[in-house]
Amino acid sequence: MEFNVEINHLSKAIGKKKIIKDLSLNIKKGEVFGLLGPNGAGKTTTIRMIVGLIGITSGSVKICGHDVKINHKEALENVGAIVENPEMYPFLSGLENLNYFSRMHKGISNEKIEEIVEFVNLEGRIKDKVKTYSLGMRQRLGIAQSLLNNPKVLILDEPTNGLDPAGIKELRQYLQTLAHEKGVTVIVSSHMLSEIELMCDRVAIIKAGELIAIENLKGKTEEKYYQFKVTPIDKAQELLSKEYQLSSEVTEGLLEFQLPNSNLGIPEIVKLLVGNNIAIYSIEPKENSLEDKFMNLTMK
Ligand SMILES: Nc1ncnc2c1ncn2[C@@H]1O[C@H](COP(=O)(O)OP(=O)(O)O)[C@@H](O)[C@H]1O
Ligand SMILES: [Mg+2]
Repeated sequence: MEFNVEINHLSKAIGKKKIIKDLSLNIKKGEVFGLLGPNGAGKTTTIRMIVGLIGITSGSVKICGHDVKINHKEALENVGAIVENPEMYPFLSGLENLNYFSRMHKGISNEKIEEIVEFVNLEGRIKDKVKTYSLGMRQRLGIAQSLLNNPKVLILDEPTNGLDPAGIKELRQYLQTLAHEKGVTVIVSSHMLSEIELMCDRVAIIKAGELIAIENLKGKTEEKYYQFKVTPIDKAQELLSKEYQLSSEVTEGLLEFQLPNSNLGIPEIVKLLVGNNIAIYSIEPKENSLEDKFMNLTMK
């Protein structure tokens, strides 16, 4: 497994306040990885440490094998990032901005710039002044700028902020193409679960500076949680446990359980319950969505 970003026991303290606590994450080549957490969770602080904008209190960040603390230059050569608002000159055209930023790197040809402009769909407007751009266009220009040095890792802090639904969809498509077709590691942060769910292959949920969970969002499995309305409910619970070693919960009067990935299916469960004189009134699949988990984790 090739990891482009390796975060090990990363912590950040400012004064006496611990902002990031022992965060460890490995992010793969060619995946869109989300950092999801409510405002104040520590997403921006984490990203700022990854891209070397602020110091690391303890732990380490490696980018393409280079330690950000020790081999700062080699590590950051591989990174393109937009943290908070990208710096653009409003009175220059989009192209003039890109030409200006391209001088900060070595050997970026006009063809390369053209290719990037095409990739972010700004050909038609690239000669217009940036002050006439919509927010979505500025965002795309920002992405174009961060792609100038052919980064292996692209990091965007809350990139969907202020974008309309069409802009968000477009951004999602760019980022997925970059990751899945060009092998770039894309890291995005958001406090919006729905966006992360659509955009990312994997997500880390962060709360109060701590990693709460890492979830796979690609090839999500079929809904395997079920809710049964049955009486008597305690007897049903006991049977499931005894016969099939299924642990169940009672939520709002419904018996809730997850089927294991085996041949055990609903027909077997129904047979067991009915065969033991338990009345079944309804059976419903329940999607174990990220939303439930996110809510459970962040609201507690
Ligand atoms: N320079 C700083 N000094 C003190 N506290 C800070 C500083 N920067 C961030 N914080 C605090 O760290 C926490 C995480 O902030 P941040 O990383 O911006 O969260 P997020 O990006 O997830 O909204 C917040 O409680 C914030 O107030
Ligand atoms: Mg932030």
